[in-house]
Amino acid sequence: MARFFLTGATGALGSYLLKEILQSGNDLDLLVRAQKGLSPSQKIGSLLDFFKLDRDLLRQKRIRVFWGDISSPQLGLSQSDLYDILESSDYMIHSAADLSFDTPLEVAFKACFDPIRFVLQVLSDSSTSRPFKKVTLVSTVGVGGRSTPLVPEGFLSKEGDFHNNYERAKRALEDVVQQALECDTPLAVARPSMIIGDSHCGQIYRFQIFYHIAQFLAGLKTLGILPELGERTLDVINVDYVARGIQSLTEDPQAVGKVFHLCSGPKKAPSLQQVQELSRQAHLRHNLPLPTLRYLPRNRLQSLLNGLQFARHLPLPHNVIGRIKAMNIMLEYLGTEQEFENQLTLRYLSERGLRPSDPLDYIPKSLDYYLNKKVKSHRPRGLHIENR
Ligand SMILES: NC(=O)c1ccc[n+]([C@@H]2O[C@H](COP(=O)([O-])OP(=O)(O)OC[C@H]3O[C@@H](n4cnc5c(N)ncnc54)[C@H](OP(=O)(O)O)[C@@H]3O)[C@@H](O)[C@H]2O)c1
Repeated sequence: MARFFLTGATGALGSYLLKEILQSGNDLDLLVRAQKGLSPSQKIGSLLDFFKLDRDLLRQKRIRVFWGDISSPQLGLSQSDLYDILESSDYMIHSAADLSFDTPLEVAFKACFDPIRFVLQVLSDSSTSRPFKKVTLVSTVGVGGRSTPLVPEGFLSKEGDFHNNYERAKRALEDVVQQALECDTPLAVARPSMIIGDSHCGQIYRFQIFYHIAQFLAGLKTLGILPELGERTLDVINVDYVARGIQSLTEDPQAVGKVFHLCSGPKKAPSLQQVQELSRQAHLRHNLPLPTLRYLPRNRLQSLLNGLQFARHLPLPHNVIGRIKAMNIMLEYLGTEQEFENQLTLRYLSERGLRPSDPLDYIPKSLDYYLNKKVKSHRPRGLHIENR
């Protein structure tokens, strides 16, 4: 059995990695960001409770928790903690990241570069008696930005044109990894697409962008006004497949130097219209009100929004400004048709017994889980209910 050093364990993906790694009999060292008023065991304790895992794993030291910060030199670890981790961990999975789209560039770059600098230093330091056998860096299929309509399962060479600084920083990180691989550094890159709940029960520890998109497509963020959706697709993927895939490729020496796409791929990704339909059906199942949908051509909607750019200077209610902002982000994000190749990863993982499930089967489960948890207690008022 091995010990994994994992960052980002309290995230949507990291939490699932923690669960999978423990349930397959391995141990964990976690780098966890300090939270005011909480001890490390309290922060990780609630995560263990969420997955119904035994808190004794902490006492038995099958899980050890280290406070740290990925945007600090040496990940904010003290020298003795670093020594402890390097002495005992066999593999590292770096999953922590700042996923916000509006992060300033220098902050986004710091959150990407400090960890890779740390990893390269550890792997090349001849005085480290026992460096990691392998490190997996979690990136994103978004490194293709706007300018790569079909993102290949390999490093990119073309200059990117990105939707946001998150994508830009991840791409810059991959450029550093690509250079490091020339020196046989034991690294692999995992690029998930949009992560959603467990394929069996929809469970997830944190709700990320997919859940906002599902609400947007149901018309709930913009009083039912939507851009025409056309034939565009939305590549989503179940968190259990991503976590198992990443654990499996991390343990495999053959995976060094490769880029893996943990996504549904061009053949299986659902269309925006299908996601919209599933989202509206889920809201109806939960007796939640839905607005009537009205579509505008994308460019007309965009000019309308451009005209409202000055809205933040007007005395408009907070929620109206929020809706304009949401519409802008969604128009921008969903406006690009993007697909992600996944044939190599599909073959690689299916040889290891892992296959992605059908998004049309697990999207409803994810949405039911979300609506049960989140929305029921904050029912929106004053929207017209459309019976469908
Ligand atoms: N979710 C997706 O749809 C998606 C899609 C493609 C790629 N990815 C990639 O998958 C990875 C995991 O994403 P996720 O969905 O799990 O994100 P998430 O839910 O936002 O979780 C982020 C994790 O990173 C930690 N973190 C953030 N800043 C940190 C800092 N400065 N120091 C230490 N820890 C920090 C957070 O800790 P706190 O608990 O303290 O906040 C949390 O554990 C990321 O690398 C992301 O780029 C995600």
